[in-house]
Amino acid sequence: MAELFEWKDEFQVGVRDIDEQHVELVALLNALHEAVREKRGSAAVRSTLDELVDYTRSHFAVEERMMREACYPDYAEHRIYHEALIDQVHALQHKLDSGETSITFELLHFLRVWLMRHICESDKRFGVWYQENASTPGWMAEARAAQRQRRWWQFWR
Ligand SMILES: [Fe+2]
Repeated sequence: MAELFEWKDEFQVGVRDIDEQHVELVALLNALHEAVREKRGSAAVRSTLDELVDYTRSHFAVEERMMREACYPDYAEHRIYHEALIDQVHALQHKLDSGETSITFELLHFLRVWLMRHICESDKRFGVWYQENASTPGWMAEARAAQRQRRWWQFWR
């Protein structure tokens, strides 16, 4: 069965850590799609969603810290995009908790389109700028380890 979001090299923004995190994000979104498609039950679907949300927040925090430290001129605008998505996803989590809604293919499609557009437009713009104006920060090794160990917020909060 086809994946929801097939990763292609053309989605790369040219900054290694960001690209690796995007690949992981896409894999988590595909896992959520699979859980819904296979009707795995609300608890399993919910934990897959939570993992995707945690990883997304963690990824946004890394990106934003890179932007802040490098004085990226479009940081404020970029952050608004991140926050808008996180707000929408939190509202969704509340609705799921109260049984008001379930995860639909329409929602999964929305997430795929949002992520693809965000990567191809905003993140690529940042990637080009970053390659010319900054380099991998010293704290990235620790951020990688924190993500591997799923210590989502320990490092940058
Ligand atoms: Fe971003």
